[in-house]
Amino acid sequence: MEKIKVGILGAGNIAVRMAKTANLLEETEAYAIASRSQEKAEAFAAENGVKRAYGSYEAMLNDPDVDLVYVALPHSHHYAWGKAALLAGKHVLAEKAFTENGKQARELFALAEERGLFCGEAMWSRFVPGADVLRGLKESGKIGKVCSVQVTFGENMWHIERIWNPHLAGGALLDVGVYALAFASLALGGDVEKVESFLDLSELGVDRQDAILMKMKSGEIASLYISCLAKCPTECTVIGTDGKAFTDNMWDYGDIRILAPDGTERERILSPVEHNGFEYELRDAVSAIREGKTEFGKMTHKETLRIMDMMDEIRARAGMTYPDE
Ligand SMILES: NC(=O)c1ccc[n+]([C@@H]2O[C@H](COP(=O)([O-])OP(=O)(O)OC[C@H]3O[C@@H](n4cnc5c(N)ncnc54)[C@H](OP(=O)(O)O)[C@@H]3O)[C@@H](O)[C@H]2O)c1
Repeated sequence: MEKIKVGILGAGNIAVRMAKTANLLEETEAYAIASRSQEKAEAFAAENGVKRAYGSYEAMLNDPDVDLVYVALPHSHHYAWGKAALLAGKHVLAEKAFTENGKQARELFALAEERGLFCGEAMWSRFVPGADVLRGLKESGKIGKVCSVQVTFGENMWHIERIWNPHLAGGALLDVGVYALAFASLALGGDVEKVESFLDLSELGVDRQDAILMKMKSGEIASLYISCLAKCPTECTVIGTDGKAFTDNMWDYGDIRILAPDGTERERILSPVEHNGFEYELRDAVSAIREGKTEFGKMTHKETLRIMDMMDEIRARAGMTYPDE
């Protein structure tokens, strides 16, 4: 079977990891890179074994051989370039946060449906083997009846322009908060009844650190602290009536400890990734494309929208909008 040719928009940090992954898998190849600078695209292509280097995003979208476009741009640019890629007839895998807001995400998904193209959010932590452990936690009864989720998650990233600049749709919520919300949503499932939040906004009106409380319709409560100001210990805990599940790995949930109420360890569930963790989302994207599906099975359009809508509500409560909203 022919390899799916991946074209990457933006020669930045995460683009490197995707290029490596696409070249590792049998199903894909890192075929093209597009940058606003031809020189940068060529350097990226040489370093990462990418066949074609384009000095503009448009030029790559005009290449008929690109099958799947990976959008590795600041959040502010996901909607416009995701849309341009779909209009060019390409399948789209866009980095988290999928777009700036739910409205943009709905538009992209509607366009993908209309054109019969795959379009999904690269929330890679949803596809790793560890995610299945969390997905099944409620039903497994390993910690009794699940009651609550607690997360602290943060990095000192405030010096990075993509994070502090409102014009790039920066902020802790869209950058790291999206992982905490995805973790809570994965472990708790079901619908959210209410969200409360406190956002610490910068002078430019961008959230630096947030506290979020969620109550699910079925009664569970989540308490999340996220930060782009300070590195804090990654602690993700699911609390049940008969123990808790804990991981200090927000990325691939590769090491989950099941503890009894008195703190003694009952079970340790190790789920190492095969390569770097991106292989699972990329393989699932390829399967969806080959099966003619427009969305992921493990990160559906509905789930992306659910999280985008929550983030919209959290920002609205704090009066936080992006300049183009
Ligand atoms: N899945 C993960 O683990 C993970 C980790 C980190 C980030 N991410 C996500 O990946 C996306 C990109 O993050 P990143 O860390 O790779 O960012 P980055 O290193 O800053 O790269 C973003 C790229 O976007 C392009 N770009 C276009 N317009 C820009 C503008 N006005 N200002 C700055 N850059 C612009 C630039 O590429 P050119 O100069 O080549 O055009 C830049 O290199 C974000 O959505 C982020 O949340 C995901």
